[in-house]
Amino acid sequence: MCGIVGYVGDKIATPILIDGLKRLEYRGYDSAGVAIMNGTGVETRKAAGKIARLEAVIDAKPPVGTLGIGHTRWATHGPPTVGNAHPHVSTDRSIAVVHNGIIENATVLKAGLEARGFIFTSDTDTEVLAHLVEAAYAGNLEAAVIEALRQVDGTYGIAVISSNEPDKIVAARRGSPLLIGLGEGEYYIASDASAILAHTRNVVYLDDGDVAVITRDGYKVLDLNSIALDKPVSRIDWDLEQIERGGYQHFMLKEIFEQPTTVENTMRGRLILEEGFSKLGGLNISKEDLLKVDNIIITACGTSWHSALIGEMMIEELCRIPVEVEYASEFRYRNPIVTPTTLCIVISQSGETADTLAAMREAKRRGARTLGLVNVVGSTIAREDDGGIYLHAGPEIGVASTKAFSSQVIALALFTLKLARLRNLSVSQGRAIAQAMAKLPEQIQSILDRADEIEALAEEFKRATNFLYLGRGYNFPAALEGALKLKEISYIHAEGYPAAEMKHGPIALIDEMMPVVCIAPHDSVFEKITSNIQEVKARKGKIIAITTRDEPSLAGKLDYEFRIPETIDLLTPILASVPLQLLAYYIAVKRGCNVDQPRNLAKSVTVE
Ligand code: AGP
Repeated sequence: MCGIVGYVGDKIATPILIDGLKRLEYRGYDSAGVAIMNGTGVETRKAAGKIARLEAVIDAKPPVGTLGIGHTRWATHGPPTVGNAHPHVSTDRSIAVVHNGIIENATVLKAGLEARGFIFTSDTDTEVLAHLVEAAYAGNLEAAVIEALRQVDGTYGIAVISSNEPDKIVAARRGSPLLIGLGEGEYYIASDASAILAHTRNVVYLDDGDVAVITRDGYKVLDLNSIALDKPVSRIDWDLEQIERGGYQHFMLKEIFEQPTTVENTMRGRLILEEGFSKLGGLNISKEDLLKVDNIIITACGTSWHSALIGEMMIEELCRIPVEVEYASEFRYRNPIVTPTTLCIVISQSGETADTLAAMREAKRRGARTLGLVNVVGSTIAREDDGGIYLHAGPEIGVASTKAFSSQVIALALFTLKLARLRNLSVSQGRAIAQAMAKLPEQIQSILDRADEIEALAEEFKRATNFLYLGRGYNFPAALEGALKLKEISYIHAEGYPAAEMKHGPIALIDEMMPVVCIAPHDSVFEKITSNIQEVKARKGKIIAITTRDEPSLAGKLDYEFRIPETIDLLTPILASVPLQLLAYYIAVKRGCNVDQPRNLAKSVTVE
């Protein structure tokens, strides 16, 4: 996600900002920029791509000043171009803003500002903030920022400077972390401590609703009613690496624990609870054309192929449209049946997977309309599809996909809800689904709060040589995903199987040495999986059950049971996958594996 750095003191600001932005590179970004107060006004330098390109722009004409703000952008609205890079400036160029977060009501605010004569030059939601502050400015920058933020729905971490008050940086947060770094006669703003650890370990963490005003003489923190707040000073005792992982031992664990937030971010501004509907701005297809779709292909690889299988069941169950899920590597070389009323949904976290990109191009060549479910904004698949749903899950650094999977399933649920409510789904049915979706973040959190139970389970099974994962219905893909997580980071062989299918072969593998993970929520096929559990038990398999309630029929049959909250069938795979992500993670750690960069694997397979 985006990174923010600000400096005010007696040193030349630019090198301090650039060094700070480099410390934030791990967060993932695709453009960068700085705004410097140069004694006469605000001077900006911006570049698409990596910070080295920004440095080249700066070296060509270095802006000189001792106050400035910098930003690395992870695109959410608008591709990663120079024009969309931050800082964004007001129409009169007196004000510059950098922002981390999503302004949900940016479209409405932008229309109002344009009607008042403000001129926009980018595709971003952030630029709205620059013009809101300009419109509100009446001689006090923090008052103008507060007035602007009162109009904003969504999340922000921002830093603002103005040539009208050249010795001041105003910062504010709601949902995106920010802190103040305390130096000697100099002060910093940063998204996290890694950006300023070289200068100070004394920081003030801002909380949601806080507004900070910093100058070279000191700082103050206000609330949105301009009431001064007394904030404690904290001492950073982490090292740089720990900070980048947010204190977690690995990026994968951090990303597993981010899921309450990332699932919420995928739904943010898109789930309309009252109408049981979803609002998807990027589909780029009219209702009429969407209603003409009479067959859907979903193509992807790996974990994304697993979420595709869940999407297939959602769409067929609720939209009554036939869906085919295809491995992208197979689809691209088959002679698939594609018609002008085919919608090809393409799922890819990276947006760069070669097989998936090729499959999408093949589908387009054959006349299908394409819809990309992608996490990385501005990636190749996101640029070439006909329309898309960005996951907004933030950069996924760990090679094993976790938060992207849950966000993919959410994006598929949002799409299914939209299409089903255009077709046969009633408002009450839609509301029930929307309400269940809205509860997921807290339900995921309740699972994460019990991670120690899974760690203990991992201790029991870290020496296993084979695992079997069983699931039915919506949880068959969850079984596949659980098995993939384990094998790709712990190198233990693991297979996912439809529970009933286990009788047709894999049951021969089962003995007292074989752990069998059974995803057994109390859903529409629960009674069926209990018989599969009994078949495994009869052969002395070790049963690890993921359940949702006490089941007398399972009494005495489970060697280990992990309870997850109950939800509607189509969302159960999201909850069932969280303990399985943790199980794979802890087993791999206990086996001394390189969890974030497993052997032989790449985060994005950009070759055939
Ligand atoms: C998932 O844990 C794996 N790293 C891998 O299967 C991945 O899902 C697959 O390569 C597809 O990547 P994409 O979603 O970026 O296209």
